[in-house]
Amino acid sequence: MFNELDFSKIDTWKEAPSDDTKRQYYYIAKCQEEMRQRAEKRGTAFTYCLTTFGCQMNEKQSEVIAGIMDEIGCVRRESEDADIVIYNTCTVRENANLKVYGRLGHLNNLKKQNPDMKIILFGCMMQEEHVVARIQKDYRFVDLVFGTHNIFKYAELFYQMLSSETQIIDIWEGTDKIVEALPTERNYDFKSGVNIMFGCNNFCSYCIVPYVRGRERSREPQAIVDEVKALVADGVTEVMLLGQNVNSYGKTLETPVSFAKLLEMVEQVEGLRRIRFMTSHPKDLSDELIEYMARSKKVCHHLHLPMQSGSSRILKDMNRRYDKERYLELVQKIRKAIPDISLTTDIIVGFPGETEEDFLETLDVVDKANFDTAFTFIYSKRSGTPAARMENQVPEDVVKERFQRLLALVQEKGKIASSRFEGTVQEVLVETESKDKGIFTGRTQYNLLVHFPGSKELLGKYVNVRLETCKGFYYLGKMVEM
Ligand code: 5AD
Ligand code: SF4
Repeated sequence: MFNELDFSKIDTWKEAPSDDTKRQYYYIAKCQEEMRQRAEKRGTAFTYCLTTFGCQMNEKQSEVIAGIMDEIGCVRRESEDADIVIYNTCTVRENANLKVYGRLGHLNNLKKQNPDMKIILFGCMMQEEHVVARIQKDYRFVDLVFGTHNIFKYAELFYQMLSSETQIIDIWEGTDKIVEALPTERNYDFKSGVNIMFGCNNFCSYCIVPYVRGRERSREPQAIVDEVKALVADGVTEVMLLGQNVNSYGKTLETPVSFAKLLEMVEQVEGLRRIRFMTSHPKDLSDELIEYMARSKKVCHHLHLPMQSGSSRILKDMNRRYDKERYLELVQKIRKAIPDISLTTDIIVGFPGETEEDFLETLDVVDKANFDTAFTFIYSKRSGTPAARMENQVPEDVVKERFQRLLALVQEKGKIASSRFEGTVQEVLVETESKDKGIFTGRTQYNLLVHFPGSKELLGKYVNVRLETCKGFYYLGKMVEM
C-alpha cells in the first residue's frame, strides 16, 4: 500500500518520471532527503502546523498534505509557532476568507522571529483571482500558493519552494485529472472520508464552488472500492462518501454507474459496518437510492438534503431546479420508505430579493419537514456569481432578525425530532473522550451524538447505549450490555 512505500529507495538522481503518481513519489523522496539534511544541520526536526477551513472534502484533502509532510520527516504540531504553516482555505462564505487574512498578519510576526519559517496557502480561496492578486501585493511573505486542481502536486511544489527565494504561485484553471494513491495521514483510525467525485456542475446562483472546484468529475468505482478495502484493512469501519452532489455520481464516467450502484459495491466490502454520504442535491435524489437505503444493512439512515429556501420563487432564482412542493413531496417519500430516517438540511437566509413572505415559506417547510438539524447560513455575496449581480440585496438588519427567528424554530423542531429516540438503546461508534475524563462521545447511525461514561478501550468500537436525556442535538446516556 502507498503508506508503506519506502521512498528512500527511489533513485532521485534520475529524471522525474512523467506518470503523475510516480512523479510525486519521486518528489516526496527528494523532499525527504532535503529535509533530513536541513534538520541534521540545525539539529532539530522541522515542525508543521496544518489548519483546514471549510468542508469535509477539504478535511480529506488536508489528510493527503499531512501524509506527505509526515513522509518527508516533518513533525506535526497544533500551534502556529511551527517551521511550516499551511492553510487549506475555504471561500464558500466571506467570513472564511476574512479569517485567513486576519491570521496572516500574525504569521508575518512569527516569521520575523523564525527565518526558517515557510507559509503555504492552498485550496478554494486561492482559485479566486482577486485573492491571489492581494497576496502577491500585500502578503509577500507567503512562500507558496496553489489552488484546488493541483493539490496532488504538493510534493513537487514543496520541493520547488525549498530552493526558491521568491513567492511561488501555481493556480490551474481546471483539470480532468484524478491522481490516486498519494500518502495519507488519517484524522481518525476507525472512520474516514472517501472522495467519490470532485467539482460541481450545478451553478446554484449564490455559490462559488463550481468556479473554484471546477467541473464535476467522478472517480472510477473500482478505485473507490479499493480505497475502502485498504481503509478497512487498516482498521476503518465507517466511511463517509464525499462529493458536492453525490446523487449525480458516475454520470460522466466512460461506463456510467449510478450512486446507488456504487453504494452496493462499497457495501460488499467485508468488515465495513457503516456507510455515510454527503451531499445530496434534492433535484437528483433517485427512487433507486431511496430504495437502496431502505434495504441496505450498512448505509446509515441519515440524509443531508440541503433545501436552501422554502420559497419556490427564491429557489428558482437560486437555480435549484425544484420548488417547495417538490421538496416536501421528496421528504414524504423518503419518510415513507425509511420511517426512522434522520433528515438534516442547509438553509440560506437573506438571498437577494427575499421578502418576508418568502421567509415565511422557509419557516413553513422547517415546520413541516421535521429536520433533525438544520445548518443555517446568512447569505454571503460571492463575487463572480450571478446572485452577486442581483438587485434587491436584503438589508443586514432584516437578515439578522430573520436568521434569529429561523434559528429559534430550527432548535425547537430539532429538539422535538431528536427526542423521538429518548429511552431507546442505540448502537454507537465511540469516537472521542471528552474534556471531562471518563466521559466518551459516540455517534448513532442517525448522526446523533451521545455522551456516556466509558473507558479508553472503547474508542473506535461499537457499543449499545441507552439514550436517557435529550439535550437538543445530543444525548446523555449509559452503556448497556446486550
Ligand atoms: N452564502 C451563504 N451560504 C452559502 N452556502 C453556499 N454558498 C453560500 C453563500 N454564498 C451554503 C449552502 C450550502 C452550504 C455548504 O453552504 O447552504 O449547502
Ligand atoms: Fe454549490 Fe449548488 Fe454545487 Fe452545492 S450543488 S456546491 S450549493 S453549486
